[in-house]
Amino acid sequence: MYKNKNYSKALNHNIFKIISQASEDLNLESYVIGGFVRDHLLQRGEPKDIDIVTVGSGIELAKKVSALLPHKPKVQVFKNYGTAMLRADNLEIEFVGARTESYSQDSRNPVVEDGTLGDDQNRRDFTINALALSLNKDNYGEILDPFNGLEDLKNQLIKTPLDPDITYSDDPLRMLRAIRFATQLGFKIETESLQAINRNKYRIKIISRERIVDELNKILLSEKPSVGFTLLHRTGLLHLILPQLTALEGIEEVDGQKHKDNFWHTLEVVDNISKNTDDLWLRWAALLHDIGKAPTKRFDDKIGWTFHGHEFTGAKMVYKLFKEMHLPLNEKMKYVQKLVLMSSRPIVIADETVTDSAVRRLIFDAGDYIEDLMTLCEADITTKNPKRFKKYHNNFQKVREKIKEVEERDHIRNFQPPVTGEEIMEIFNLKPSKEIGIIKSAIKEAILEGLIPNEYEAAKDFMLKKGKELGLQPAQ
Ligand code: CTP
Repeated sequence: MYKNKNYSKALNHNIFKIISQASEDLNLESYVIGGFVRDHLLQRGEPKDIDIVTVGSGIELAKKVSALLPHKPKVQVFKNYGTAMLRADNLEIEFVGARTESYSQDSRNPVVEDGTLGDDQNRRDFTINALALSLNKDNYGEILDPFNGLEDLKNQLIKTPLDPDITYSDDPLRMLRAIRFATQLGFKIETESLQAINRNKYRIKIISRERIVDELNKILLSEKPSVGFTLLHRTGLLHLILPQLTALEGIEEVDGQKHKDNFWHTLEVVDNISKNTDDLWLRWAALLHDIGKAPTKRFDDKIGWTFHGHEFTGAKMVYKLFKEMHLPLNEKMKYVQKLVLMSSRPIVIADETVTDSAVRRLIFDAGDYIEDLMTLCEADITTKNPKRFKKYHNNFQKVREKIKEVEERDHIRNFQPPVTGEEIMEIFNLKPSKEIGIIKSAIKEAILEGLIPNEYEAAKDFMLKKGKELGLQPAQ
């Protein structure tokens, strides 16, 4: 795969020639480093950002590059970090001066000093991220690979350039990055590294929740998220980050009756749903759909293991968890909450004969989330019994068909009352009062139950009847 010693093909983009020219003008050595080089060698799609390291001032180099570009892009300077960024051709190009870093125990912020390219490569997270591609005229396109990153790329290995205890302790976010890269790329984490993550796991406490969530999201968005969650679990990180999830682990037995292990089940559900959706929040809903099962678990002499009300408890836990993790507390949270709350509804329907009224209620309650709810419930089928697996899927197919049929006929989704409150007030000559609410909800119930169609005339007749029952007289 990496036979050629020269990789100038990776540097076809005009921007590299310009950076090379700017470096020469300033008499600086410069290199492309990090994700761009790694992803180019792995042939992983179009790059979004490019990291440039220069032995000198990154800010000065960025300004020179901007001056050489026809559109003279704005240079954003981050003085505190000694870095600068500019945009060209939809690419974010980040410039940093080569440096050495030394860290203290209680902070992610290192003491930084100017250094050589070698120093800079040393301080990077993984050998596959420390590959530097020369932009200098005399060895343009040559890879500088002091830690055998190319070998590790070939062997699909996540390995730190330094002693892993140092690399992870310096910046504990890297423990999550290791697991995230292993999940995204399908690589293995070297054993020593995995052990070091376990030893250093408590250092994750100094990392901001936003950064943790960023990595969790990337794990969740990969092809097989269970790979990442299994590693998080094995290293002890998951228990520190999402204890609500690890609380689901384990099987208890009373009187010869067992329940399933809801943690490993959850991971299967997440993998299943990931085959059918790339939506991050639907994947979060799958991850959290059973979290209410740990606090509600009970053994009942008559019915065995129950998790009664776990959907309701789980929905409340979603809010708390989103708040704690600094996840958005907006409509995304409400969406996840609602899916968790409703996560058993289609299952209950599918278990029984699928009636129109049950389906109408389901559509009414789920609204626009109905499709996603069905996707979640189908992913929830993890039985290893092929007969049951088939039966459950067939039942869900029936529910889906029924949803389509009922919706085409009754238009329950985004239900709007066919008779408005104003009209009820006008007809019965009423001021705002509780009777209006009673009549409106009776109309809604009658439609959902199938007593009347979801149409104006039928609803108006029903309203007059209901008004009479309440002792109201239509105005003349
Ligand atoms: N890096 C590091 N330690 C970190 C973050 C980043 O050593 N905690 C270094 C790595 O060399 C990395 C480079 O900075 O390759 C750029 O970081 P970033 O843009 O976050 O990641 P990429 O490797 O580019 O990968 P991705 O875009 O997939 O996150």
